[in-house]
Amino acid sequence: MTDWLVREIKKISMIEKYAIPSRNNYSKLDANENLVLDKDILTKISIDSLKKIDLRKYPIELSEEVYKKISSYLMVSKKSLVLGSGSDQIIELLLTIIGKGRRLTSIYPTFSYFKTRCQLHKVGFSEILLSTVDNSINMEKFMEKARNSHAIYLCSPNNPTGNQFDKSQVLDILNSLENSLVIIDEAYVEFAKYSLTKYVQEYSNLVILRTFSKAMGLAGARIGYMIANEELADLFKNKIQLPYAVNSISIAIAISVLANPKKMEKSISLIKDERERLYRNLSKIKKIKVYKSDANFLFIKCNEKYKGILEALEDSKIIVKALGNIRNYGNCIRLTIGTKRMNDKILSIFNNIQ
Ligand SMILES: Cc1ncc(COP(=O)(O)O)c(C=O)c1O
Repeated sequence: MTDWLVREIKKISMIEKYAIPSRNNYSKLDANENLVLDKDILTKISIDSLKKIDLRKYPIELSEEVYKKISSYLMVSKKSLVLGSGSDQIIELLLTIIGKGRRLTSIYPTFSYFKTRCQLHKVGFSEILLSTVDNSINMEKFMEKARNSHAIYLCSPNNPTGNQFDKSQVLDILNSLENSLVIIDEAYVEFAKYSLTKYVQEYSNLVILRTFSKAMGLAGARIGYMIANEELADLFKNKIQLPYAVNSISIAIAISVLANPKKMEKSISLIKDERERLYRNLSKIKKIKVYKSDANFLFIKCNEKYKGILEALEDSKIIVKALGNIRNYGNCIRLTIGTKRMNDKILSIFNNIQ
């Protein structure tokens, strides 16, 4: 093998692997999917969608229809939208544009996948530690780094900490960094207090990432989108994105979910209630610290109980995201809010922590 390729492969092999646990018959509370939505309803939607499409054809009219549906659902111009095969695929292209050697500022902890993709694309990645008290951003430190960067990445709400930052702080970032590309990842925004969607017309450097994988219950369909000002969205759609990045079946399913959003909306409201119930009850346990969340998961600092908690969850066939020793915080887990039954089980496991 040529020398350069050997060196490149060696470098890539140092990048942390994105861990995907696979265990049958476990309650999957590790990936922030919407497990409250009834699986059978989604299966029916999928079968009905399959009957409506013509797999011989590229998804041209269908794409038009899903753009219209998202546009009226979010009350944003359809010219501001670009579909992708999950928001992961859009992240990939954004990093291609930012390009090798440029610098990006983000926070720690955040969506770990994003950092590993920066490493793959050779985009310099700086991270500012959040406060372990309330997961807030130290704006002074953040701005100092961000001013010397080409791009910013912020999750709103943040994964894994679950909180949404003050809207005024995020707007300050946008106002002060008009020469940077500001990527706001709103993967969990349906569970949160505010969205920045309407600001895309005002800030030409703002890109918002959204997905059907979380609140919409369609992680398996792999469909996401970005929202940006019309000029950038047009360029992205026609020059950067693959011509047919999302398949007809996934698009048809997304159209169907948006046409009848009641069930999905009801599940969101249930998850938010359950999140508050879990938060209240877990907060009473002295040996752990649970953080307030604006998403469909809870971030829990487990201290010296980490191993015991993971073992107890394993014994009950529950997988959570074992985050390990997070700098400044210590050993933490991230736990998806599941059905009421799953959450009751979680509470009984945590209440038994000695
Ligand atoms: C913050 C954040 N952004 C993006 C994604 C990826 O979403 P998608 O399934 O649309 O690729 C995830 C998935 O866990 C996420 O947590």
